Amino acid sequence: MFKKLFTQKHTPIEGDEQIIAGPIPEHIAIIMDGNGRWATKRALPRIAGHHEGMKTVRKITRYANDIGVKVLTLYAFSTENWSRPKKEVEFLMRLPEEFLSTYLPELIEKNVQVQIMGDFDSLPQHTQRAVKRAIDETSHNTGLILNFALNYGSRTEIVHAVKAITQAVQKGELAAEDITEQCISEHLMTKHLVEPDLLIRTSGEVRLSNFMLWQLAYTEFWFTDVLWPDFDEACLLEAIQVYQTRNRRYGGLEEQTK
Ligand code: FPP
Repeated sequence: MFKKLFTQKHTPIEGDEQIIAGPIPEHIAIIMDGNGRWATKRALPRIAGHHEGMKTVRKITRYANDIGVKVLTLYAFSTENWSRPKKEVEFLMRLPEEFLSTYLPELIEKNVQVQIMGDFDSLPQHTQRAVKRAIDETSHNTGLILNFALNYGSRTEIVHAVKAITQAVQKGELAAEDITEQCISEHLMTKHLVEPDLLIRTSGEVRLSNFMLWQLAYTEFWFTDVLWPDFDEACLLEAIQVYQTRNRRYGGLEEQTK
């Protein structure tokens, strides 16, 4: 049981083409973890791991787009990450800028649309500027949605949704009976997105760390020991291959989902 949840191999057993021809998850969400350990193992400063992790973001974005993934949500900075050393936080806040200034032309060429979810207003001005530019310049693109969770925390997201719904009820715009699951989903930052089909977390950690707690209710999980900077196309394909073997029942019986 545990083995099924926690996969260590990352070489697809079947041919790649067969996996790519199979059902591809529409929305893949990734908790990119292990940058610090990747760097420490090489006697490098932690920020070197984050920088390498940025290159993996490029690689996986390109590949996800190529194989027909519709939404790729990447956990780039959590609301809890502010407690890291100041220099590391500053570096992490510069990374979206570096990534976008380097790869924006490529994202545009590949028809990728950049989005962000999280507390945007609390980001440093320079980060806001870079992200806003990328959002604006890719807003008409119709390919992969590259959704960065930046300064994101799921509990805060849910608190905001509850407050907005309460205010609507107080103003008489919404009746208490109208507070449904759909209503709550529509008040989250992902309201315009399909829910993730597949969640990946790298580096051997098996927890959600305040990531998309509502949205992951029926998502398939796949964990790997691979550290994020080492994560590659073969790893993604293996995750998808495992996903294709899963039987998503949404709480019903197998025959009902067929
Ligand atoms: C967790 O690894 C990773 C982060 C907190 C940052 C993730 C950021 C990137 C992968 C780069 C983002 C790039 C863009 C374009 C925004 P960790 O530092 O906790 O690793 P550790 O657990 O090994 O210490």
